[in-house]
Amino acid sequence: MSEPKLFSPLTLRGLTLRNRAVMSPMCQYLAVEGAAQDWHFAHHARFAAGGLGLAFVEATAVTRLGRITYGCTGIWDDAQIPGFKRIVDTHRAHGAATGIQIGHSGRRGSAARPWDGAKPIAETSGAEAAWQTVGPSALPEREGYPVPRELSVAEIEALIEAFGQAAKRCLAAGFDIVEIHGAHGYLIHSFFSPVSNRRSDAFGGTREKRMRLALLVAETVRAVWPEDKPVFYRASAVDNVEGGLVIEDTVALARALKQRGVDLVDCSSGGMSGPATFSTAKIRPGYQVPYAAAVRAGAELPTMAVGAILEPKQAEAILAEGKADLIALGRQLMAEPHWLYRAALELGLADPHAVLPRQYAFYLERRAAVLEP
Ligand SMILES: Cc1cc2nc3c(=O)[nH]c(=O)nc-3n(C[C@H](O)[C@H](O)[C@H](O)COP(=O)(O)O)c2cc1C
Repeated sequence: MSEPKLFSPLTLRGLTLRNRAVMSPMCQYLAVEGAAQDWHFAHHARFAAGGLGLAFVEATAVTRLGRITYGCTGIWDDAQIPGFKRIVDTHRAHGAATGIQIGHSGRRGSAARPWDGAKPIAETSGAEAAWQTVGPSALPEREGYPVPRELSVAEIEALIEAFGQAAKRCLAAGFDIVEIHGAHGYLIHSFFSPVSNRRSDAFGGTREKRMRLALLVAETVRAVWPEDKPVFYRASAVDNVEGGLVIEDTVALARALKQRGVDLVDCSSGGMSGPATFSTAKIRPGYQVPYAAAVRAGAELPTMAVGAILEPKQAEAILAEGKADLIALGRQLMAEPHWLYRAALELGLADPHAVLPRQYAFYLERRAAVLEP
């Protein structure tokens, strides 16, 4: 029997991932002035022992005002590098590659943490006071929400430069992959979507002009990111709102990103006028897989599927059917950090215990031999 595709390596540029299972970026909202804390290390260490091919550090802001909440991680200052390096080193010691997602919150910044309601911070909230958000146009995310300030071209150029500086720091921290956050209603997505971008200059109007920010960020990041290391892009493949982005727009964007040296598109959705799809009641197993398949076929670019991928057989089928090249898991891994060990057993990997760190494998392999019916 051939080995499961989930456990086959994938080479992108000079990086070979040992398997196709990926930990999706997940904000923890516990950073202090953007710096990763002991919790971030403990959180990643849980997954580092899980045998994954690749793990992502959460959405990390390229400027202080580009955070979503006061608890978000940031990479606008060299002082933030060591906290990330510790995480990278842990994954590497266990054989996994590490990526970091860099982004800017745009009009969705200045928000309260999820467990405090995730709504815009009220102006009266003291030390963690509201800040002026920015966007392509002075259009709020929802009625009654704060109105972002329209960015000038000079400010846009400065933000593009901030992405480049952030990528340099990511490199100093040792990351293998940098992922540009172009999803969930945040700055880059808000420029691409006609729902939030009403500009009439070089950054708005036609689809080509709306994708200009994404492409300039990709070029800038690519210019500082080593040739042998991959760059990923997370897209909201569809807006799911009237007049919003449809899959053809994202395929066109993916083609243009590919020309600028982006190696993979990570296909999420939503977030344009309300929460991203993953945190709504609309989710069903594999609900975003068709987007990964469409981008893969339409742009001839590797993709990552994400969203309610819960079962090993489901993940294996996505890969075997050629719908995506990588499988990202968020909440299922949060609940089950050793999901890949279960996958190794359920998919019949020849040596399932090889997925575990030696100090676990040694005992579990012997236990399995004794307990086997
Ligand atoms: C707690 C939490 C934090 C998240 N933070 C991010 C993030 O930083 N960046 C991002 O693109 N998506 C983020 N997401 C979305 C996940 O990366 C993932 O796409 C989504 O949860 C769907 O996958 P799942 O059904 O396996 O959880 C987050 C999701 C959760 C549950």
